[in-house]
Amino acid sequence: MMSITTTQIGSVSLPSYVFGASGPNCTTLEQLQIVGRSDAAAIMIKTCTLEYREGNPEPRYVEVPLGSINSMGYPNLGYKEYLRIIPILKEFKKPIIASLGVLKASEFPTLIEAFNTADVDFLELNFSCPNLTGKPQIGYDFEMTDSLLKELVPLIKKPFGIKLPPYFDPVHWEQAATIFKKYPIGALVCINSIGNTLIIDPETEQPLIKPKGGFGGLGGDFVKPVALANVRAFSQLLGDKMSIIGVGGIKSGMDAFEFLLCGADAVQIGTQFMKEGPECFGRIDRELAEILKRKGYKSIAEAKGKLKPL
Ligand SMILES: Cc1cc2nc3c(=O)[nH]c(=O)nc-3n(C[C@H](O)[C@H](O)[C@H](O)COP(=O)(O)O)c2cc1C
Repeated sequence: MMSITTTQIGSVSLPSYVFGASGPNCTTLEQLQIVGRSDAAAIMIKTCTLEYREGNPEPRYVEVPLGSINSMGYPNLGYKEYLRIIPILKEFKKPIIASLGVLKASEFPTLIEAFNTADVDFLELNFSCPNLTGKPQIGYDFEMTDSLLKELVPLIKKPFGIKLPPYFDPVHWEQAATIFKKYPIGALVCINSIGNTLIIDPETEQPLIKPKGGFGGLGGDFVKPVALANVRAFSQLLGDKMSIIGVGGIKSGMDAFEFLLCGADAVQIGTQFMKEGPECFGRIDRELAEILKRKGYKSIAEAKGKLKPL
């Protein structure tokens, strides 16, 4: 029987609504096999770069009651190793999503060409990599976003989405949407961590994480209202043209339902996956299914974007 939470991102069908966000617990083959065996709707892979990266010194990820802060520095095996791993992941028979990240925008074509012929179902271009030295993240530079999409879109042979940083101003949502609607983008993934935040421990009088003087990306409960607003804003501007994937602070089926009301076609789990492990995917999806049934919705499509005016 088809699950009530069956959904679609771009042209790719998903057996359920919930899967992992790129980053948490999806770097090594062993971690990806654990995701494969879980109830996650898809196997999402850690953002990969041209070369292997050790990442930043530890502590670089710390959990607090309301979420997490991290400055991982993109530790990953390098894209060639993921090209080797991907065929091994096919045994799980679920969609596989690769996330492509760069230190310089000029690195994207090599990655795209390599993954065009890989057995992945969807590509997530990470436009919210905080590691471009001396430049804002791509997603915060609209000229760069537009020129890069213009250059890259003709090269991409797979369904693809872009992972976006959070925006906080309606003008930015509108400017970004004006650019995105020119291209055949399958999905917007909203949001990456809220960048460059600081959590300190007043007892030790130190920041919680070591890299960048303690500045890092925020996830978890802290970011959910920001993520909801980004999903809602882009869904209203572009929801008829592309899928919107919600990510940020989702811990329960009720959180996922809130994202669905705001227009999300699927959701990803980051911090809660770190805290709870792979059981979170099935649990959150089952909780969502219960909520839909209780409220009389028969499908994801029926509830999608149905936030009511006050
Ligand atoms: C430890 C850690 C590593 C992350 N690494 C990546 C990454 O490699 N690529 C990416 O697009 N986002 C990365 N993120 C951001 C998450 O994918 C997600 O967008 C963010 O944490 C918000 O979701 P959450 O509140 O469920 O954690 C990372 C987050 C965490 C906590």
